[in-house]
Amino acid sequence: MSSDDRPLIHFTPARNWMNDPNGLVYDRGVYHLFYQYNPFGNSWGNMSWGHATSRDLTSWHELPVAIACTPTEQIYSGSVVVDSLNTSELGSIESPPLVAVYTRVSPDGIQTQALAFSTDGGYAWEKYAGNPVLDRDSPDFRDPKVFRYTSPTGDSTWIMVAVEATLRQVLIYSSQNLRDWIFESSIGPFGPEDVVWECPDLFALPVDGDDERLMWVLLVSTNGVGDAVDSSMSYLVGSFDGHSFVVDPAGSWTPVDHGRDFYAAVTFSGVPDDRRIALGWAGNWQYASETPTAPWRGVMSSPRELSLTRTAGGFALIQTPVLDLESVSVESETVRMPIVSGSPSTTIAGRRYVLTIDWQAGPDSILRLDVLAGTHGEVTIGYDTATMTLSLDRRRSGIVDLHPGFATVNETSVPLRDGRLSLTVIVDECVVEIFADEGAVTFTDLAFAPADADVLRVAATSGTGTVTVSPLREPRCDAE
Ligand code: FRU
Repeated sequence: MSSDDRPLIHFTPARNWMNDPNGLVYDRGVYHLFYQYNPFGNSWGNMSWGHATSRDLTSWHELPVAIACTPTEQIYSGSVVVDSLNTSELGSIESPPLVAVYTRVSPDGIQTQALAFSTDGGYAWEKYAGNPVLDRDSPDFRDPKVFRYTSPTGDSTWIMVAVEATLRQVLIYSSQNLRDWIFESSIGPFGPEDVVWECPDLFALPVDGDDERLMWVLLVSTNGVGDAVDSSMSYLVGSFDGHSFVVDPAGSWTPVDHGRDFYAAVTFSGVPDDRRIALGWAGNWQYASETPTAPWRGVMSSPRELSLTRTAGGFALIQTPVLDLESVSVESETVRMPIVSGSPSTTIAGRRYVLTIDWQAGPDSILRLDVLAGTHGEVTIGYDTATMTLSLDRRRSGIVDLHPGFATVNETSVPLRDGRLSLTVIVDECVVEIFADEGAVTFTDLAFAPADADVLRVAATSGTGTVTVSPLREPRCDAE
């Protein structure tokens, strides 16, 4: 892949290695994306916080490294809050500081939590002289996510969730000033045993839009260990009273995404109107260091707005793309393809577009949608009404031999609604994202197709429908 063959609306650094999103924060009109970054190479190491900003979450502007590693300190994942009341005394009431809470890794491998602060709106950062602020003498204590919690009686405090990775626990701490932290409680271990827990997040969402009924969602990234390295995310729904999180009896450990490449997703703090927007690393530790891109390596998922709905079986986390189609595509270039039985509808769609699929299924019918198709093969999105399964097959997607675990097909059950299937699919060069069942099911997968993989095909054994193809173009507004 040449450097021009990069996604349009999914953030990639101009050069070098990137993994987790860090410090996602909205402040005065600007979304800040910090990220795990190696300023010196295209593989993991020299971990520092890279920085990019956006005003619309689709066009990103890369800035100089925000928090740099030193010979005695690696800068691992963490979060940023706007300290509006200057509780940390690292700024002033007139000019509230942005405070980054990150994991500092010392040369002996001990992981502690440390602060950096910015008094210019998140551009220049200074490390706090009193670091670290939290030390358990542990080699696996990391990924602090901090938020402001207000109790029903109106008292507010800072809460941190961080992992003891190999113990499979999330630890909860509270603080009045971001510098002194009190241990409150822990969550876990539960779920699969042969994994580490990473990058937690904890936030409230209204159930079915009812602001009077808030439930708390705990996001956890889990990564297999040893030969079983494989990255995925799960969530739990429960209650939180400022001290401890209690899993709801109707909540269970549920996958966040059904593809292979959605990890370390956390949410922006400070977004107006209580909107919850998550962004993940579209990557998997299993083969992250082998992905065939240069001089950059690492891509973010598209941002997704989160909501929560009550279902017959419990709760479902809903993910909706934040993408504003009007700003990223041109209506006059939109193409509509009929879904008919028999020979497939085919078009040259390029490699960057958004699809909306609306299909009235026939009895015992199979829908097959090929994206990034060409002489090499394709990425196939399939739906089978007999089993009610949606699948994403990248076994013939182009470069698949980067790792033995890459050539996979994944599937999960998705119900038809009134006999219909509706999907939104974002294809952006090397990232394919599917939003199904009104956002209750997503797939995020990387695919490394050759430059001529521009064919789009759709066919069904029966049933009728339409695929609407909206080509992506360079985002209109630039963010400073
Ligand atoms: C998750 C993770 C974090 C850690 C960071 C290091 O992908 O392993 O737990 O802070 O990446 O780059």
